[in-house]
Amino acid sequence: MNFELSEEHIMIRDAAREFAQELKAGVIDRDEEAKFPYEFVKQMGELGFMGIMTPEQYGGAGMDTLAYVLVLEELAKIDASAAVIVSAHNSLVLWGLNEYGTEEQKQKFLVPLAKGEKLGAFALSEPEAGSDASSQHTQAEDKGDHYLLNGTKNWITNGGNADIYLVIAQTNTELRHKGINVLIVEKGMPGFTIGPKENKLGIRSSDTHSLMFSDVRVPKENRIGDDGFGFKFAMKTLDGGRIGIAAQALGIAAGAYDLALAYSKERKTFGKPISNHQAIQFKLADMEVEIEAARLLTYKAAWTKDQGVPYGKEAAMAKLHASEVAMKHTVEAVQIHGGYGFVKEYHVERLMRDAKITQIYEGTSEIQRLVIAREILK
Ligand code: CAA
Ligand code: FAD
Repeated sequence: MNFELSEEHIMIRDAAREFAQELKAGVIDRDEEAKFPYEFVKQMGELGFMGIMTPEQYGGAGMDTLAYVLVLEELAKIDASAAVIVSAHNSLVLWGLNEYGTEEQKQKFLVPLAKGEKLGAFALSEPEAGSDASSQHTQAEDKGDHYLLNGTKNWITNGGNADIYLVIAQTNTELRHKGINVLIVEKGMPGFTIGPKENKLGIRSSDTHSLMFSDVRVPKENRIGDDGFGFKFAMKTLDGGRIGIAAQALGIAAGAYDLALAYSKERKTFGKPISNHQAIQFKLADMEVEIEAARLLTYKAAWTKDQGVPYGKEAAMAKLHASEVAMKHTVEAVQIHGGYGFVKEYHVERLMRDAKITQIYEGTSEIQRLVIAREILK
């Protein structure tokens, strides 16, 4: 067993760390104004972050899942919105296209996505189908050479800015989850409209929208995999996506910890730095232990995926633990900052707001427990 990062991993981590410093300058304004970081997304494309796990032959950086996790962790320490933009794009869109797409689909859609020229979104959730993801109401009616898509998707990350959407929809209701398909939908297809941007508690500079489909003609060649593969596709995609969200949560927790540790050495009360008070020391010790445990679970899930063996349980464990740690310790980071933690300039209040979503999306904490329990009991 080797816990050391390779030279390549250290290089990509350091590149992400350096880039994250650039993200820092406007992060408070982007959060306040819910402004999408267009310029930075372009730069992340140039750095290879927008196709980090995609093979080089399809325009990506050809790196492994651990490299992906290291990048997300560094981004999320500073800007959790930038991290989720990268995560949804890479693990929910590019991964599935590369794994199950045809050569034509890869050339047409994967290549520009992996180069960062286009942005992707993954549309599974609906107003009445979140945790209960197989209960799809969106219909993809089989019309021979095309599908006719009708319905509404909810809460779609990158929803307004994406160019390419993977949309999950029901074709054969009688077959339940075995009658679900996944279709590649392009922005601008007639009948496809994007709803207003959600006004959110956290990750405010990531855009979240509902999507409406009204008689959208989607060519048959835009279906990924065999007829009826859509639900399995979504579940397999989410196994990897959860590793990305674990890394985002880990970064949020680690970012808040870095700030709290530094502040505790500077701020003096009763004639000494607050880090000299045992109550603060114990908080810092708990943060160190629990964040490291989250890091180990997250890296292990990434490593397991790279071994080519099943990794759904590892991904769910990492996501569950890292998101709980992020929520708990961002609250503690605010506490260590006292009143200063409650204002925007000190960053920890934003990290605390950003942490909450990691317990909800890509499967709530309750759903992660359900996935883990099913695995250990089967
Ligand atoms: N890999 C492959 N196949 C899987 C699978 C997996 N991880 N999980 C389930 N399946 C298969 C099962 O084997 C079964 O197939 P068969 O009938 O052929 O045996 C089929 O899928 C149905 O499985 P279940 O009976 O277990 O399905 P279920 O209806 O009980 O649901 C669930 C299971 C885990 C709760 C699932 O609905 C789920 O993951 N819900 C949460 C949804 C979610 O995470 N949404 C995230 C949206 S994306 C997002 O949020 C993005 C973002 O924020 C950025
Ligand atoms: P519900 O499923 O209604 O759950 C409500 C509560 O009940 C939760 O606490 C849940 O844990 C609990 N619960 C439900 N079922 C069970 C059960 N069986 N056992 C125990 N407890 C249960 N979706 C996408 O498809 N693509 C995206 O890009 C995307 N991005 C998102 C971005 C944001 C900012 C948000 C808020 C959501 C996003 N989502 C996306 C949707 C997200 O995945 C869902 O919100 C999430 O899966 C929960 O679904 P729900 O909101 O319908 O809650």
